[in-house]
Amino acid sequence: MRPSSKCLFSSSTCTCWSSHFVVLLFITSLVFVSCPSLLSLDFSLSHFSWSWRGKPTSCLDTEKKRASILHYDEGEVPSPTAFSSDHHGSRKFKEGDEKLGTKFKHKGTGKGNLRAHKYRKLRRIEAALAKARFSIRETSKNRNWTSTFHDSDYFPHGPIYRNANAFHRSYLEMEKVFKIFVYEEGETPMFHNGPSKDIYASEGRFMHEMEKGRYYRTYDPDEAFVYYLPFSVVMIVEYVYDRGSNFNVDPVGLVVKDYIQIISHKHPFWNRSMGHDHFMLSCHDWGPLATSYVDLLFNNAIRVLCNANRSEGFNPVKDVSFPEMNLQTGEVTGLVGGYTPSQRTILAFFAGHLHGYIRYQLLDTWKNKDQDVQVYEELPQGISYQTKLRSSKFCLCPSGYEVASPRIVEAIFAECVPVLISDNYVPPFSDVLNWNSFSVQVDVKDIPNIKKILMGISERQYSRMQTRVKQVQRHFVPNEPPKRYDMFHMIIHSIWLRRLNIHIHDQ
Ligand SMILES: *[C@@H]1O[C@H](CO)[C@@H](O)[C@H](O)[C@H]1NC(C)=O
Ligand SMILES: *[C@@H]1O[C@H](CO)[C@@H](O)[C@H](O)[C@H]1NC(C)=O
Ligand SMILES: *[C@@H]1O[C@H](CO)[C@@H](O)[C@H](O)[C@H]1NC(C)=O
Repeated sequence: MRPSSKCLFSSSTCTCWSSHFVVLLFITSLVFVSCPSLLSLDFSLSHFSWSWRGKPTSCLDTEKKRASILHYDEGEVPSPTAFSSDHHGSRKFKEGDEKLGTKFKHKGTGKGNLRAHKYRKLRRIEAALAKARFSIRETSKNRNWTSTFHDSDYFPHGPIYRNANAFHRSYLEMEKVFKIFVYEEGETPMFHNGPSKDIYASEGRFMHEMEKGRYYRTYDPDEAFVYYLPFSVVMIVEYVYDRGSNFNVDPVGLVVKDYIQIISHKHPFWNRSMGHDHFMLSCHDWGPLATSYVDLLFNNAIRVLCNANRSEGFNPVKDVSFPEMNLQTGEVTGLVGGYTPSQRTILAFFAGHLHGYIRYQLLDTWKNKDQDVQVYEELPQGISYQTKLRSSKFCLCPSGYEVASPRIVEAIFAECVPVLISDNYVPPFSDVLNWNSFSVQVDVKDIPNIKKILMGISERQYSRMQTRVKQVQRHFVPNEPPKRYDMFHMIIHSIWLRRLNIHIHDQ
């Protein structure tokens, strides 16, 4: 057990657990439904049926701090032309532009009217959020495992969810009201663009979808619930990082810093919330490092990261973990599907290169040692990786250089129960998903016991877990165009939960 101790909630219900794993489960699951002072909810843990271990220790008042520094500063209301001074080439809004003309037109020309108008909009947003919080809270009291709401596509149900009903309600509320403004500043290739193939595909795919603007996007910043900072760490690294510089990440961090500088000077929104209602997204290992060049970005903004390493400052209360996936062709075709449990002849499988201390231990202990736990550094000629995934009961997903591993998604696609071997990793969507129900989590110190642990899972239990892996698959599939409840929408939903968790006041 790691000597970690984190506080989950604000002072009124401060509850802390000494076990890191439990912290992970709880922070993530309860954030949206149980932050009483923050959400103005008189909500208690007794509404939930899950149990936990570990005992309360000390208290850090993170969320309260997050809420209390938010305010709307009257002095920072933008002028009507605040959006027209873009000097970043083709992406600019000009006055009289179609978009500006139709979307940004305000009734009344006086400064006072404009200000009042903007206040009304902010109030409307906060009112919509308050309503959503209330209905999610009410819904989460119902401990039914199956959602009670109508949905023509899919009913969240069963133990893969922390609270299927609350999730469904929250998802439907999001679809109804959530709006995202994407800053137009910045030029491709480092902005508004990202890789849609290979290991960082999920970064590019999200960015491209937001640029297309088919879902959730608004072009009126006063109407937005959150603001997206569309820079790609992968692309910035590709263009400004000097490979001969011995890991000098400064040039990458400075691009990000400049960008926030521009955004905070040109628009009132960053200063208004000190960054709390802004988000960035990156799948690059250096995503966290790149954000560390701006304090408010690192500490306040919603950082959507693959590299969700709590030891690198990932904060499950305000940040979002999203899945890494290796799409070699950019396509998902051929990756989804696997054999039935009885056709799975291998107990556990892993193939991958040696990098990072966890893999070192895994390979050191298991490589070429066991017929049941098949661990390869390099797959022998003629053996298909996909086939191995499909015919294994469990797929080992150890962290490498960084905590996230594309193997988790590979396993889920191949309907193989993932075995997460990591330290301080917050798995994707764990606000909503109950990872314990469809995955196995093994501590690094238990690597030598892997076989014993996995053999200890009964056929019946295995078969239940495997069925759940199939059920959870839809949340990890990237579709083009996106489909409800798929990876894109789940990322947005995680961001929505973070925004639900803060108030921005006009005083
Ligand atoms: C779900 O909740 C509703 C309303 O609380 C109740 O009428 C219904 O019987 C419950 N269903 C199950 C399966 O518990
Ligand atoms: C936001 O705050 C910074 C630093 O305090 C200031 O320089 C900048 O002008 C402000 N932006 C706006 C739009 O007022
Ligand atoms: C997580 O971050 C810590 C601190 O930077 C680092 O030492 C550790 O190696 C990281 N974990 C992984 C699996 O990379």
